[in-house]
Amino acid sequence: MNNLIKYLLNFFDPETAHKLAVSILSRNHFVSYRTKDLYTKIANLEFKNPIGLAAGFDKSGQCFHGIFKLGFSSVEVGTVTPFSQVGNNKPRVFRLYKNRAVINSYGFNNDGMEIVKNRLNDGKKREGVLGVNIGPNKKSKNPIEDFKVTSKNLSKYCDYITINISSPNTPGLRNMHDKNLLCEVIKATKEGISEVGSHKPIFLKISPDEKISTITEIINTSINENIDALVISNTTIERPVYLNSKYQYIKGGLSGNPLFKKSTKLLENIHKITNGKIDLVGVGGVESANQAYVKILVGAKLIQLYTGLLFQGPNIVKIITSQLSEFLKRDGFNSLEDAVGTLSYEEAAKLNNLEY
Ligand SMILES: Cc1cc2nc3c(=O)[nH]c(=O)nc-3n(C[C@H](O)[C@H](O)[C@H](O)COP(=O)(O)O)c2cc1C
Repeated sequence: MNNLIKYLLNFFDPETAHKLAVSILSRNHFVSYRTKDLYTKIANLEFKNPIGLAAGFDKSGQCFHGIFKLGFSSVEVGTVTPFSQVGNNKPRVFRLYKNRAVINSYGFNNDGMEIVKNRLNDGKKREGVLGVNIGPNKKSKNPIEDFKVTSKNLSKYCDYITINISSPNTPGLRNMHDKNLLCEVIKATKEGISEVGSHKPIFLKISPDEKISTITEIINTSINENIDALVISNTTIERPVYLNSKYQYIKGGLSGNPLFKKSTKLLENIHKITNGKIDLVGVGGVESANQAYVKILVGAKLIQLYTGLLFQGPNIVKIITSQLSEFLKRDGFNSLEDAVGTLSYEEAAKLNNLEY
């Protein structure tokens, strides 16, 4: 079955392949894969291993049970908006094979919070941590209110909420990295959650393309507002010169291998500044155990991936977690937590034979 999914993910055009994979996973015919002892914890949520599926794959909560069965410890459903929307014009997903990268300009196509709520509230036992990533509708007259409405409607049915201010495909969204707007977004999300008394942790997902002064302000705001974790990072609008594809200049967010160094160096910087005051989730370009380990060594307690699943196939969690256990043992760490934030990017990359 895993090979079938890998084949589908690469045979059809990217959007059709994605729909098929979601459909197969929603049938939930898989055998659960239990991982070794790689527990990690954020905001009192226990993750059975440090590999989660990043937002954007299960946009409308259709297949998270199936994804848990592939071994992922967590799934971030979404981005979910108050009302359903179709997203941007097609084609809007492109594979850059030689660079093991994707450019997407989906623009938050999703079924809207009411339908997603019903899917999350299915009464079935979940085999992992379920996050919901929220954002505003493209044509919203009050994008800040959208964060309140979605958190109010969905926070009861998940384990944490992620505020997404960082997708490059919704006009104006990244402006919410501005300190004052960000404070309003966080306040609105908290209000939504507290109105239904669900007390769920809040994560904040940021862009890798911001200036360091903006990042410093975001960190201060997040700590002052008791944000539980920063998710670093979303896709980039930057195009490294070495990309080698006819699609490389297409508008949208670039993910996968070319995002690894940029997002990991940002993670390292944020870890240095925050020094353990806030938990960090490392996302961007992870497709091997070495890359996951580097993110942990520079400060991530949890890893999320998306593009790596497309190129490496559904066994990716099994492969990464078994090797990670060996790396921790080899380097004398008793637990994953002991390894978090112990090296600089350069040291961690050298240790793992990666470019630095
Ligand atoms: C096709 C596609 C759709 C995505 N959609 C979303 C989304 O709806 N919301 C979001 O926060 N991130 C979205 N992302 C970004 C991922 O969650 C992740 O942050 C990014 O792809 C970097 O990780 P990766 O290199 O492992 O893919 C999307 C990524 C891809 C490739």
